[in-house]
Amino acid sequence: MLLKIAKSSVILGLAISTLSAGSFNEQAEKDRKALVKYFEDKFEDVTKNKDKFFPYSTEDEIKNVFDSGVKHQSFGLGSYSFNKKSRAQYTEFKDGILPYEESIEKGEKLYNKAFKNGKSIASCFPDPVIGHQYPVFNETKKEVITLTSAINDCVRANGEKELNTKDGDMAKIEAYIAFKTAEAGKEIDIKITSKEAQDAYERGKKYYYSQRGYINISCASCHVQGAGQRVRNEYMSPLLGSTTHFPVYRLVWQDLGTLEKRMSGCITDQGQKPPKDESKEMKELLYFMAYMSNGMKIDGPDLRK
Ligand code: HEC
Repeated sequence: MLLKIAKSSVILGLAISTLSAGSFNEQAEKDRKALVKYFEDKFEDVTKNKDKFFPYSTEDEIKNVFDSGVKHQSFGLGSYSFNKKSRAQYTEFKDGILPYEESIEKGEKLYNKAFKNGKSIASCFPDPVIGHQYPVFNETKKEVITLTSAINDCVRANGEKELNTKDGDMAKIEAYIAFKTAEAGKEIDIKITSKEAQDAYERGKKYYYSQRGYINISCASCHVQGAGQRVRNEYMSPLLGSTTHFPVYRLVWQDLGTLEKRMSGCITDQGQKPPKDESKEMKELLYFMAYMSNGMKIDGPDLRK
């Protein structure tokens, strides 16, 4: 009898712990599903939804710029997912010689290049198909590790000088990793498996939705409610799918840059000093953003205006 009880409580104990391990992402899943629904509803029928979602858009935009019926996976194309005009230009560019192709090759070389101690980035990450797993919440260190910080941790652990987190070698290594991950057909797969990870997610979300800067608006004002609106002649992209395709080659930069570089640009435009790329704030913000894109295909590196 005792043995039976002991056995059944073991089973029960297991059941409870798997149950709670699964539930740490419950809120995040709710948020993610609501976001997918919001964007699919918004772009389901732009003409019909004009008053509700596009009160500031002109008749010309409604008729000639926006697409209707944009589905979940397509939002990884950013504003090109719903903007027929800029998508046509983008497609034309993608048919030509891609300005980041050489960077992927250079990235592969850097990935395999020996440090002074004979090791390399490949020794830290023997399989380059990892782009879909980052950011991860490291349960030992109890902190979010982004791909950028994971690469720099590897470099530092081998006694080398850390890489610039905005462009240059870091962007090239990330381009190679993104390329290999996309080639393997991977989808973003961010996990939240503890209370600490859940708290990190919530802090990232809070950052995204907090109004800040001299114009007192949040990331969400532009990339959720504002997605599809125009600002300085640019159509704002949706939060959904915002991390699937980095690093990007921007025509404005004439260079390949990391996701952190792109976000820092937006934060500066908001009139704020961006947090450091490897700071807790930046990493947690990225953790939240990437979770929102869970289940979406990695499609990097890519091109943007
Ligand atoms: C005033 C409006 C505004 C605010 C506020 C803003 N952004 Fe942006 N953001 C833009 C515009 C405009 C672009 C360029 C067009 C586009 O969305 O691709 C952009 C681009 C981006 C991109 C690149 C999207 C892509 O497809 O490559 C990311 C990522 C991004 N912003 C993140 C953020 C984050 C994170 C915040 C808050 C810290 C933020 N933005 C705040 C206007 C804004």
